[in-house]
Amino acid sequence: MINLRDIDKQYLQGKTPVKVLNKLCLHVKDNENVGIIGPSGSGKSTLLNLIGLLENPSSGNITICNVESNKLKDEEKVVFRKENLGFIFQNNQLLEDFNIQENVALPLLINGNSFRKSISKAKDYLDLLGVANRSKFKPGLLSGGEQQRVAIARALIKNPKILLADEPTGSLDNENTKIVFNFISKLSKENKIITILATHNLNLVKLLDKCFLMEGGKLIDFRK
Ligand SMILES: Nc1ncnc2c1ncn2[C@@H]1O[C@H](COP(=O)(O)OP(=O)(O)OP(=O)(O)O)[C@@H](O)[C@H]1O
Ligand SMILES: [Mg+2]
Repeated sequence: MINLRDIDKQYLQGKTPVKVLNKLCLHVKDNENVGIIGPSGSGKSTLLNLIGLLENPSSGNITICNVESNKLKDEEKVVFRKENLGFIFQNNQLLEDFNIQENVALPLLINGNSFRKSISKAKDYLDLLGVANRSKFKPGLLSGGEQQRVAIARALIKNPKILLADEPTGSLDNENTKIVFNFISKLSKENKIITILATHNLNLVKLLDKCFLMEGGKLIDFRK
């Protein structure tokens, strides 16, 4: 379960405070998938970063899996993220020092699994996403869409309780958008993962359990 109550988020741009989120509320039940749409700069990535405990709200409360985020110390947030959250970043953030299969295996290795087991599972996920033939390449040699699929494999491999997906299909063509979206929704339903997906793609958002429009720093139910 995710619960956000009266979240404000303000940034300083130069000396000017800019309010991005304004008394935002969101409730997501277990196993629900939720889409967030909204114009560029409306605060979608900001919201995902807050739920992902990568940033703190200026005020308001965030509760995830019965844990109140403002009660966690920074080290505890790191552990919480490692154990519960999978993140597909808008700019995928693959590590250039590692090849593709190592990038995908990394969350398992960090959690203490053996190299052999982690690489083997990484290969299975790369296969499912149609990029197994790039396993030994460095990320920079892949197309934007291929890199995105690798980032999706990396986010899902440790079977997180919550998947935060920031424009996961932003750099994919129609065909691959369908493949990737179906993969995310199938896996998240099968494994009871809460998925929060920010996107500009209206067709995708309509297929999710709930969808919201980010406007004026708040979420408005898009289907109403
Ligand atoms: N670290 C920061 N410092 C200052 N301003 C920031 C920071 N991060 C985000 N912002 C501002 O907050 C606003 C919301 O940004 P955000 O990245 O959340 O938008 P978005 O909805 O994800 O946009 P896009 O669709 O382009 O990805 C923007 O005006 C942005 O400039
Ligand atoms: Mg964004």
